[in-house]
Formats: sequence, structure tokens, C-alpha cells
Amino acid sequence: MNHLLAIKDLDNKEVNEIISLAEKLKKSPENYSGALKGKSLVMIFQKTSTRTRISFEIGMTQLGGHAAFLDWKDSNFAVGNIFDEVKCIGGYADIIMVRVYSHSDVEKMAKVAGVPVINGLSDFEHPCQALADVMTIKEKKGLKSKLAFIGDGNNVCNSLIAACTKTGIRIAVATPKGYEPNMGIMESAKKTGLLSFTNNPKEAVEGADIVYTDTWVSLGQEKEAEKRHNVFSPYQLNRGLVPENALIMHCLPAHRGFEITDEVIDSQNSIVFEQAENRLHVQKAIMLKLLEEK
Ligand code: CP
Ligand code: NVA
Repeated sequence: MNHLLAIKDLDNKEVNEIISLAEKLKKSPENYSGALKGKSLVMIFQKTSTRTRISFEIGMTQLGGHAAFLDWKDSNFAVGNIFDEVKCIGGYADIIMVRVYSHSDVEKMAKVAGVPVINGLSDFEHPCQALADVMTIKEKKGLKSKLAFIGDGNNVCNSLIAACTKTGIRIAVATPKGYEPNMGIMESAKKTGLLSFTNNPKEAVEGADIVYTDTWVSLGQEKEAEKRHNVFSPYQLNRGLVPENALIMHCLPAHRGFEITDEVIDSQNSIVFEQAENRLHVQKAIMLKLLEEK
């Protein structure tokens, strides 16, 4: 594994190894406190972030290294050539994490950076999120469980489909017509027999141990907000839809009153903050794995 751009590019063993390492990091962080001493991470953001930015920065500090933040629009990425800019950063840093609008930008950067590149979210996948999600599902319900993803077939959904079906978790996805997940990811996942797809949210949540949703309006889709709110309203996680005992997941930030009600996200079954905490352990595992294999 030279980079982490998409879960679809990883094999089952790699996914399971990252999660096992994250579990060890969570249990005994002190065993890894100097593991990346003297190493530097550069984090480049085209979009806003709370969890990804802070969990990577603190994760790197906890491993004994250093993290530097670069806002795309305040840097010369905004005016220069993407290849030139990232090549320079690769000369300073040991590892790079980027959050971009277009997945092709992270692919371009990985090609020339000369150091491992991590996708911290693109329009195609959010691999770091899905790894933390599978870790959380394993902790709470075990891998023999059923997850229902309800809402937009977006980056989070694509990564979840790939991560669940590579780790043995059954996943049922319900999206409106025209908002389906990536076809290539669905085709590979279907071969495992673990993925089912429907346009009917009630059908997807039947027998689900966990129900997951994400925003209906991803970063960069703000102009489509009104249309999306109308299309997605039958897909809201509310008391009427969610089975009583199902655990609730959301990658956050949540748009309360839209994809999820206060009652559901604040219920005792909600594990959104455990899920967010696991981002820290997973980011550390990803960085260790990429730097150890380099
Ligand atoms: N879930 C997630 O990636 O959160 P941020 O956008 O705040 O980083
Ligand atoms: N689908 C959302 C996830 C945010 C973490 C987005 O891309 O904005």
C-alpha cells in the first residue's frame, strides 16, 4: 500500500490490518508514542473540516511527529500548477493528507508527490471515515451484522460499501433514483453477496443492526440544496423509519431536521461520538502503515 486514495483499491487483508492496528492503538496508545518521531505530515484542504483535520493533527502529535495545515485557497495551490506545488511539499514532508472536491486532484497529487498521499475526502470516496466506521461496527456489534445506509449514494456511501463488503459486514443501501452509489463499486461489492440495493428505505432498514446516514447536501453541492431537500425527505432517519433496537451512525457534520431528527441522533442508540473518536485511532493506523511500508 503506497497511498490511501480509496477503499476500493485495498484488498480485504489491508482493510482488516488497518483496523486491527487501530484497535491496538486505541487500547495501548503509549506503545506507539514515539513511532513517528521526527516525521512530518502536511494536511492540504480545499474544503472545511473538523474531525479529519483535528484527528490527523492530534494523531500525528501522539505518534511523536508534527503536522502542518495548508488551506488550498490561501496557498499557491490557488494560483500555481498542482504538480509543481505538491512536488515541493513532498520534498519537505514524509506524508501528505488532502481533502479535495475532485477525486482526480488527489490522484494527480499521489502520482508525483514522492511520499504517501492519503485521501481525506473527495467527491468519490472518504476512505478514512469508512475505516473508522467498520472499526466502530466491529466494536459495537461484530462483523456479522447488517448495516443499512439510507440517503445519498455519495463519497461516504461508496467507501462504506467497499469497506463493509471487504470485512464481511452485510450492507443494504437505499437511495432515491438518480442518487445511486458508484456503479463500479456496487458491481464489485455485489460479487461478495453482502450488498443489497433498493430505492425503498423501509426495505433497507428491515432487520438492520445499525442504520447510517449522511448529509443530503455534500460540501460543494450547496446550489442544489433545495432540490435535494425535496428529493431526500422520505429518506430521513426518524422514529418512524428506524427499527427500535438499531444503533445509529452518522459521519458528521449532521444537518439536524433534514437527514436525521434530533430524537434519533440524540437517542441512547446513537453511537456517532464513538464513531468520531475512532477516527483518531484509524488515522494513526493509516499513517503508521503507510510509513512503515515505504
Ligand atoms: N466526518 C468528517 O470527515 O468530518 P469533517 O468534515 O469535520 O472532517
Ligand atoms: N458527504 C459529506 C461528508 C462530510 C464528512 C461531504 O462530502 O460533504
